[in-house]
Amino acid sequence: MLKLAVPKGRLEEKVMKFLRKAGYTFEKESSILREGKDITCFLVRPFDVPTYLVHGVADVGFCGTDVLLEKETNLIQPFFIPANVSRMVLAGPRGKGIPKGEKKIATKFPNVTRRYCESKGWHCKIIALKGSVELAPIAGLSDLIVDITETGRTLRENNLEVLDEIFVIRTHVVVNPVSYRTKRKEVISFLERLQEVMKNDTYEKSQ
Ligand code: PRP
Repeated sequence: MLKLAVPKGRLEEKVMKFLRKAGYTFEKESSILREGKDITCFLVRPFDVPTYLVHGVADVGFCGTDVLLEKETNLIQPFFIPANVSRMVLAGPRGKGIPKGEKKIATKFPNVTRRYCESKGWHCKIIALKGSVELAPIAGLSDLIVDITETGRTLRENNLEVLDEIFVIRTHVVVNPVSYRTKRKEVISFLERLQEVMKNDTYEKSQ
């Protein structure tokens, strides 16, 4: 029996579709738990996926590059799944550019932002938020934001523009290193089944 951490929201349907195509069925289904003969899925907040793996209660998970880099976990990442590609960007009010001197940056990704500012040699004040980051420059809480953009709609709606691309975000299959040793056969067979059904699926590039 393998235990999977599946992120709720944008990716949930895509992942569940691949699992069903790979032949996995569930006898019991609720909004947070899907229980089958071969696999059990925990449906969790995307940021919590690595936590379930690191604590050893899930063997395999699905996780964005954004969460992996923010959490700095040591999980095995055998491949990524075909899903929309988004980007982590530095953005700010249209036409204003990057301010000189100390910069105030609002973000849901303080670790990613800190490392980015260090790499640029910038002096920054990082303001950690849980959501609606685009509001921060409008409300005067920050000069800039570091956030995810996929279609670019949210930035446009809020009169913000991309000033720099930090990294591309894909959805990785992640494996707990202990499960990879102790349940090797089961994990590899699961990954092979998943890869097989993903073969014919194409990337929907959204840019
Ligand atoms: C992300 C991000 C933006 C939005 C960008 O939030 O923080 O708000 O998506 O997407 P777009 O370029 O297609 O408009 P998400 O919807 O993941 O929700 P969250 O704020 O609850 O994390």
